[in-house]
Amino acid sequence: MEPDKYVGPHMVTSVPGPKSREYHEKERKLFFKAWYVDKDVPFIMRRKYTWFIEDVDGNRYIDMVTGWASTPMGAGYKPVLEKAVEALWESGGVECTDYVTDVHLFDLAEKLAEITPRQLTRVAPDTTGTEAVEAAMRLAREKTKRYFMLTFHGSFHGGNYGAAGAGPTSPDVTHGIKEYIHGFIHVPYPTCYRCPFRQTYPQCNLACLDYIEDVILRYETAPDTIAGVLYEPIQGENGVYIPPDGWVERLHEMGEKYGWVMIDDEVQTGFGRTGKMFAIEHWPQVVEKVDLMPLAKALSGGALPIAAVMGTDEVMTASDNLYLGGTFAWQPAACAGALAGIEAMERENVLDNVARLEKIAQDRMTPLMEKYEIVGDVRIKGVYLALEFVEDKETKTPAKELTRQIHRRLINKGVVGIHERGLWWIRWLPALNMPPQLFHKACDLLEETIDEVSREYGKGIA
Ligand SMILES: Cc1ncc(COP(=O)(O)O)c(C=O)c1O
Repeated sequence: MEPDKYVGPHMVTSVPGPKSREYHEKERKLFFKAWYVDKDVPFIMRRKYTWFIEDVDGNRYIDMVTGWASTPMGAGYKPVLEKAVEALWESGGVECTDYVTDVHLFDLAEKLAEITPRQLTRVAPDTTGTEAVEAAMRLAREKTKRYFMLTFHGSFHGGNYGAAGAGPTSPDVTHGIKEYIHGFIHVPYPTCYRCPFRQTYPQCNLACLDYIEDVILRYETAPDTIAGVLYEPIQGENGVYIPPDGWVERLHEMGEKYGWVMIDDEVQTGFGRTGKMFAIEHWPQVVEKVDLMPLAKALSGGALPIAAVMGTDEVMTASDNLYLGGTFAWQPAACAGALAGIEAMERENVLDNVARLEKIAQDRMTPLMEKYEIVGDVRIKGVYLALEFVEDKETKTPAKELTRQIHRRLINKGVVGIHERGLWWIRWLPALNMPPQLFHKACDLLEETIDEVSREYGKGIA
């Protein structure tokens, strides 16, 4: 598809259209129940190109999901897909590369060692972010021979037992898991808009970090039982919470003091999403203190599933008895696609476009907070974007139904973002190379929708 042939959304039916309805009925018969009950996307995709998703009824949406941040250069980005397909033919398809190591792995490993913080010299191959996080925790425990992992309320580190047990985003993510998985200590993240200590930054002096020393280390466990700290440098699934100045630095100071392995989960923030290649670069003092860095999503370049843990020599060589990865980890074609993706980001100076989009987001989204009573908070870092909706600014009561209305109406206007049932924020994860005029168009439709919903529900203008 020629990118500039498409100037915006194009809607031919209300959503869901008749064909999507038919597929939804099938979906309810064919898939396990939890697959569809909480989904808030009322159409079935037919195809995807550049910055657009087209559904089976012919509606075209601006894609603010991008495979949950996995197609950083937009859909169907040729230089990446071509390299992946070439390697797919060359390698003959699937290979179990932890047994028969394929030549395509080396250039990617070298590239990752070059672009990640310089102490991260070695790689542990994986297929998904969940696996990479679990691998990182095992590496930390092998290195320290300690038991606990310190993780944060509201964080998401993946599905499955280990990663979901690590990140208690919400009780439904850990439902059926918590009972079986032990070894985590969960502490508050600096979710300043909803501070659990009812304090305000900077007067709080980062009470959430004091809590670790004053409560956890005093009453719950000794520092030398903790193997490491697993943290998101910016919390994604919880609605893009950006830690205030000093938090990441002090967390790392604590880690250094107690010998904790510091795991910076860049599965969602990695590869330009927040305006830097890796989000940790926003805090230059700690960049060289990271011990392990799980990567996935945008690492794929938008081609094929691939994940990795980058780590220091010290941690990555601590054990010679650790099975990580699996049959599908680091497929030759996925490696070729990933390398082409990184090269494309560099060649196209995509971070410059992220800065342009961030500026537009600040100019267009931040004022919505002033203008509308229901827009409680707007959080922006690069193109990591969230709007949180409330019944009113005073009580900050989550406006769950209004959020759903806004999300659904936006889809009907041709913008698909991220909203999950029961939550009261909408996130956008546009491609890093989205044309600014298209992003503006999406912002127009967003404001139009918030305006409509505010008026109809009598919430009015602030
Ligand atoms: C920060 C973070 N870590 C880990 C994961 C899990 O990645 P995956 O879905 O590839 O297993 C996610 C997924 O959203 C994530 O946001």
